[in-house]
Amino acid sequence: MAILRWGMVGGGEGAFIGDVHRMAARLDGGYQLVAGCFSSSPEKTNLSAKALGVEVDRAYSDFNTMAEVESQREDGIQVVSIVTPNFLHYDNVKAFLDRRIAVICEKPLTVSLLQAQELQTLAKKQNTFLAVTYNYVENPMVKVARELVKKGELGELLMVDAYYLQDWLALDIESTGQKQAAWRTDPAKTGRAGCLGDIGIHAYNLLSYLIGYSASRVNASLTSFVAGRRVDDHADIQLGYKDNILQGRILASQVMTGHENDLGFRLTGRKATLEWRQETPNELWFKPLGAPAQRMTRNGAGYPESLNAVCYVPAGHPEGYLEAFANVYQNIRMALLEKELSYYPNIDQAVKDMEFVEACLQSNDQGH
Ligand SMILES: NC(=O)c1ccc[n+]([C@@H]2O[C@H](COP(=O)([O-])OP(=O)(O)OC[C@H]3O[C@@H](n4cnc5c(N)ncnc54)[C@H](O)[C@@H]3O)[C@@H](O)[C@H]2O)c1
Repeated sequence: MAILRWGMVGGGEGAFIGDVHRMAARLDGGYQLVAGCFSSSPEKTNLSAKALGVEVDRAYSDFNTMAEVESQREDGIQVVSIVTPNFLHYDNVKAFLDRRIAVICEKPLTVSLLQAQELQTLAKKQNTFLAVTYNYVENPMVKVARELVKKGELGELLMVDAYYLQDWLALDIESTGQKQAAWRTDPAKTGRAGCLGDIGIHAYNLLSYLIGYSASRVNASLTSFVAGRRVDDHADIQLGYKDNILQGRILASQVMTGHENDLGFRLTGRKATLEWRQETPNELWFKPLGAPAQRMTRNGAGYPESLNAVCYVPAGHPEGYLEAFANVYQNIRMALLEKELSYYPNIDQAVKDMEFVEACLQSNDQGH
């Protein structure tokens, strides 16, 4: 297997998602981490580099130097992952695209639609790969659902909804110095959208992937339930689609007591309903009108052979978040090796997701 020389910006000790990216890349087996700027603190970057086996001369104190030096090396990185807080994504991504280094960026791509559109233009101008890690669409049973919708097994779609419910921000933990909460509730670092941009965007991306198109209208109600919080922590959004028949809804909350990472969807057509939850990701419920519900399982009876490549172990052995993330890395590696720029979720979808965020903010500003 060809191994890609890989770099990372962010993801130092104590960070959340950088570690998940490294586990995903290890599961895939096609990446070697050889360079990084893991923190805004050079000392912390050096400590992380040591722990991760990155040579000291490729542990960079800032991401611009990393992009410049790596682009000059014969054995420089072929791809970089951006796993920093949202407000840094634009500058981080631009530094590497400017030097024609392929980029894998965390969601949301940027803190504004304008920035996302600029990166879209730049990636095209540079003819350089830019992907955004919407990991949930890489769950095998989500892919089965997508196939059933495409084949028309649900009939004409009537109601679709996706939700992402958490409770970790139910209290004012940002005031206690909790690092991930602190930047996520600071509009200068997270953007104008709080919960909406953090997890609502995952639910919306998932829904768009499943039905194959984006909404054309939104009616959004954004709330901050925790006193003094400067961004929304709860988002309730109605979606309208171009056919004027299909009705959609996104419910995202970080203050919904009793919910951890409760992401899921329900798609209802004239013939059947499909239901899936990421906390039980190996099963998908198909509920046909007038017939018993069927529990479909990953790699189980009736599972399509064409989707075997996105499974790691046989049916009944649970797979989930990390394996789906590894599928993101697998797809990106194959796209890069085949010099294929049309990987999904690509920059075009990420810009549509930012259009959704911007439309929700505007709708809420106008009082719906
Ligand atoms: N796809 C998912 O499921 C998922 C889950 C969690 C987070 N995320 C996204 O990942 C990103 C990071 O989130 P997190 O929870 O890991 O945050 P975090 O605060 O845990 O980690 C951020 C990291 O960036 C580093 N950093 C900050 N400034 C830097 C700079 N100038 N140069 C280099 N490194 C710098 C920090 O030191 C830290 O290591 C966010 O955009 C978030 O939305 C995605």
